[in-house]
Amino acid sequence: MTDIAFPINCFAELPTPFYAYSIDLLHQTLQTATNAAGPDAHIHYAVKANANPVILQKIAKAGFGADCVSGGEIEAALAAGFDAKKIVYAGVGKTDAEILRGIDAGIGCFNVESAEELEIIAALASERNKTVRVALRVNPNVDAHTHKHITTGLSENKFGINLEALQPIAERALALPSVELYGLHFHIGSQLLDMSPYAELCAKINDLQDSLSKNGIFVNSINVGGGLGVDYDDPDKNPIADFDTYFATFKNGLKLRDGQTLHFELGRSIVAQCGSLISRCIYVKHGTVKKFVILDAGMTELIRPALYSARHKIQNISATEGSPTETYDVVGPVCESSDVFVCDGLLPVTQRGDFIAIRSAGAYGEVMASNYNCRKLHPAYFIN
Ligand code: LLP
Repeated sequence: MTDIAFPINCFAELPTPFYAYSIDLLHQTLQTATNAAGPDAHIHYAVKANANPVILQKIAKAGFGADCVSGGEIEAALAAGFDAKKIVYAGVGKTDAEILRGIDAGIGCFNVESAEELEIIAALASERNKTVRVALRVNPNVDAHTHKHITTGLSENKFGINLEALQPIAERALALPSVELYGLHFHIGSQLLDMSPYAELCAKINDLQDSLSKNGIFVNSINVGGGLGVDYDDPDKNPIADFDTYFATFKNGLKLRDGQTLHFELGRSIVAQCGSLISRCIYVKHGTVKKFVILDAGMTELIRPALYSARHKIQNISATEGSPTETYDVVGPVCESSDVFVCDGLLPVTQRGDFIAIRSAGAYGEVMASNYNCRKLHPAYFIN
């Protein structure tokens, strides 16, 4: 297995903070996911997880499609070499310009989130004299039991169409000449390690297909979204997500109709483990009771701990093995009290200048960085 603990000598002179990506691990992950999915499944990488052009190019080259949620992501996917026909486009607030960009680029499918949006897509497609494929995004009302900010499949939600509203919207799609009702789309949440919500999703999809077919509605594709979780506690033990169990859950649970294609939109599980945020310790501050390791990276570079109370493994990669340890709050320099990576974390005794790696940061890390406090993130490095 690839060693993803980066050798410190390879960036000793570099200004921090920056992201470092292991391209070997990315390749191994892509290969493992492809093998586990099998030849019949289609994986559309969720660009929102990491839109770094180098990462996107590698994923496009591995033959994946792309799942985009904005015109900007469509541009990024096309620029990286993704096949337009393998792009699916979701998002609750697609603007007319973004829809037109998707139509003109010839993307594979629009994942439609409301009756209102369906009408606009149909009107714009008809303006262009084109017929576009749409999948209706359905809220299956399955609780993903994950953080409330990344749960999306419950019934009252800004995302998707509720089960009760589906039939008339599907009929409307069938009646509109400029759209082809191509598929059904689902996504119940993110960072799922327990597969039982997915088994529940499969059962809901089977029931839904039964009831739709009684009313003469058949779709070509079933897209079950993304959400497979990764091991944030021990990325060295589990550098690659459990793709086998994940794909088997759908293969065993779904009753696909003849000719139906199966689609996935994985983001985090593809890129999380290959990326680390590398920073330096600026100060070790001795408070009254606590000791603080103050980094040059903060919530501006990795917002997940501040936004979702997410835990990432933190390593002092300057420390030698077997060094004595100390309990610290590891914090960033940003003027927000939520700019904390961990409270009471155990680290080797840390000094000013030590390199600190924040692991499993390849997904929703660099892509969510901001310039708050007029801060700058240095360009990423790629390690083979
Ligand atoms: N498909 C749809 C419709 C989605 O909304 C998402 C993620 C995905 C696919 C990809 O899910 P993944 O395989 O990456 O779990 N910023 C948050 C995660 C937000 C996820 C949003 N939707 C975080 O850092 O945990």
